[in-house]
Amino acid sequence: MHINPANAGAVDAKHADRAWTPVCAVEDIPRAGSRVVKRGGADDIAVFRAWDDQVFALLDRCPHKGGPLSAGLVHGHAVTCPLHGWTIDLADGQAQAPDQGCSHRIAVQVEDGTVYLDLPDQGRGLAQSPEPCATPQAAGSA
Ligand code: FES
Repeated sequence: MHINPANAGAVDAKHADRAWTPVCAVEDIPRAGSRVVKRGGADDIAVFRAWDDQVFALLDRCPHKGGPLSAGLVHGHAVTCPLHGWTIDLADGQAQAPDQGCSHRIAVQVEDGTVYLDLPDQGRGLAQSPEPCATPQAAGSA
């Protein structure tokens, strides 16, 4: 997939330290739904579109037991995991109380209807591309 230099330049002006990769059009994502970005050996990324057309991206892995968040129910700016019902905030990846944990967030930019993700290594290396969680991953919670 190629980055349109004109668009990438416009986006990069806002965040010069990021490596924006176009992944799809906003219209390719159903409202209150998601689309999965495969990364060839690395964790998939779930790209969500809320009812208000805001776009968010998280690793497609619930902080509870790894359920596919892309298959969850999107409501407001949150997604409910299809496996055990944890609710994850799309903006910061945090599980809503009383649950604790975080799904890594990937920075998103939308430019001229195209969704860009910050994937500096084209998807390899979890530690390098997603932004860190503000709190530790859930450990041992039921
Ligand atoms: S794996 Fe998501 S709630 Fe359990």
